[in-house]
Amino acid sequence: MTKRLAAFLLALLPGLAFAAGDVKLLESNASVNNIASLQRGAAMYMSYCSGCHALGFQRYSRIAKDLELPEELVMDKLVFTDAKIGDHVKVAMDPADGQAWFGKTPPDLSLVARSKPGGPDWVYTFLKSFYVDETRPAGWNNTVLPGSSMPHVLWELQGSQRPIYQEGAAEALPVIERLEMASPGSMSAQEYDAAIRDLTNFLTYVGEPAAIKRTSMGVWVILFLAAFTFLAWLLKHEYWRDVH
Ligand code: HEC
Repeated sequence: MTKRLAAFLLALLPGLAFAAGDVKLLESNASVNNIASLQRGAAMYMSYCSGCHALGFQRYSRIAKDLELPEELVMDKLVFTDAKIGDHVKVAMDPADGQAWFGKTPPDLSLVARSKPGGPDWVYTFLKSFYVDETRPAGWNNTVLPGSSMPHVLWELQGSQRPIYQEGAAEALPVIERLEMASPGSMSAQEYDAAIRDLTNFLTYVGEPAAIKRTSMGVWVILFLAAFTFLAWLLKHEYWRDVH
């Protein structure tokens, strides 16, 4: 039984290595303790992503509370459907339409910043890696998710990139060496990086909403332990005085 299990796990290995891909992921430096960044990321998500991707585990009211936004503001600026404040973030689009339009229903992104190899870095690098590819139905491809059916919805901000192929690679199997900006968008490279860092940060928060509390609580726990250690040390001193 264990042997069979081991063989099964071994058989999975090449698949895992492949899943991680040979694309080098960039560091997102996402930090869920930066509330301003989370707020900007939420605004971007609702404007550019929520039309296709749901966040099935996340309620608008929770976003309002965790991101320190008044509920009226969330309803006014972040909810573009007929959803109520206590509802989950759903898409307006019918999943069947998604299938028909993109060849694939856009997946729920609640856990995407946790489920991908590299986590937030995968999402960040993915959003930087779209390039023009006329052979794809949407006209775009992506080096992090080759054959991706997602169009580059942020192209007006980033601009459009074209692939530069490795020299010497077989013509039938061209290898992309890097992407080059073909026509710039409305943002500079730094502005775009900052914007998708906010977006990645927001998706990281959505993957584990408790992380905001957990990480800010960690500091207090360490401080408490330090203070407690000091007290224990004083107490030990006190006891040993009598012994000496
Ligand atoms: C027009 C619809 C559409 C919009 C808008 C859209 N996406 Fe997508 N997205 C898709 C589709 C379709 C896929 C599935 C791609 C595939 O697997 O081929 C996808 C896949 C993804 C994935 C990979 C998910 C996975 O599990 O493989 C991520 C991450 C993602 N989108 C993020 C975003 C973000 C962030 C935005 C907003 C900036 C956004 N998407 C906007 C259609 C969309």
